Amino acid sequence: MQFILILFLSFATSVYAGESPTLTFRKNGEVVRMLSRDAINQLKEEIRIVTVDNPTDSKLHTYEGVLLVALLDQVFGKDWKVFDIVKFKTSDGYQPVIPTESVMKGCGLISTAEKGFQGFQKLQRINGEFVDPGPFFLVWENINNIRSKEDPWLCWPWQITEIELTSIAREYPRSAPRDFKSNAAREGFLAFRQHCIKCHSINGEGGNVGPELNYPTNVTEYWKEDWLARFIADPQSVRANSRMVPFYRDVKDRQETVVSIIEYLRVMKDNKIQGSVLNKN
Ligand code: HEC
Repeated sequence: MQFILILFLSFATSVYAGESPTLTFRKNGEVVRMLSRDAINQLKEEIRIVTVDNPTDSKLHTYEGVLLVALLDQVFGKDWKVFDIVKFKTSDGYQPVIPTESVMKGCGLISTAEKGFQGFQKLQRINGEFVDPGPFFLVWENINNIRSKEDPWLCWPWQITEIELTSIAREYPRSAPRDFKSNAAREGFLAFRQHCIKCHSINGEGGNVGPELNYPTNVTEYWKEDWLARFIADPQSVRANSRMVPFYRDVKDRQETVVSIIEYLRVMKDNKIQGSVLNKN
């Protein structure tokens, strides 16, 4: 009897999930909660309608949904803010992370529909392809809130399936030092992940458009620091044919950020991995 009941319940749940897509919430990998779109739409006090300038097609769109910050409060309680980063998983394989601080300062909405549409209007990408951003699309109020345009962390993941609270150390086990030693190094690591890790690896973790910067010799061991700062800010002023892009020009406190990136690189000198780990990457 019990067995039949369980069978029935799991059948009922799967049918329900089929009707209303669900969003999974995790804390350090563990599932904390799953919410259906219907359940999210019932968070009445937190529902908003916002018009945004959508970066995909550069057109104005009006979306309905729940404020991201309110949703995180609801699911995790207020202490979600102690986590370093919020990670999103989507059904197209994109896995962006946004620092908690940026999430709090921006005005994000987990939209569940576009106003006046059943679901979402498809978006046309620059290559002409059409994408349905639903069932859950993170948008940022960027018309009144200019910061949302200025903060390069505030990406717009669509087809979101999971939202996870996690930490830098957990997500970046090899490129995070055991001890940051200073706030500058911590900030430098954030900036490094934002601007550099897509092209460079640290201990084998990251992109390989440019060279590995830590192992076996850390870049601060063979570059003079003032030259390093100059190179990062403007590579072509040091090497005429450099294929590296200059450090993001619109970043606030650009020079201090370059210094903090170098600080992070210097801390990594004492956090080298063993060769066998690097070779697996
Ligand atoms: C678009 C890819 C790309 C990005 C983004 C990028 N780099 Fe580079 N970087 C390169 C390439 C390619 C080289 C190889 C040398 C060259 O072309 O000048 C390089 C070289 C370097 C070097 C010299 C290494 C050596 O041993 O001579 C340093 C240091 C460096 N990058 C740091 C950074 C930092 C810090 C950032 C982030 C602020 C960054 N890079 C962002 C592609 C990139």
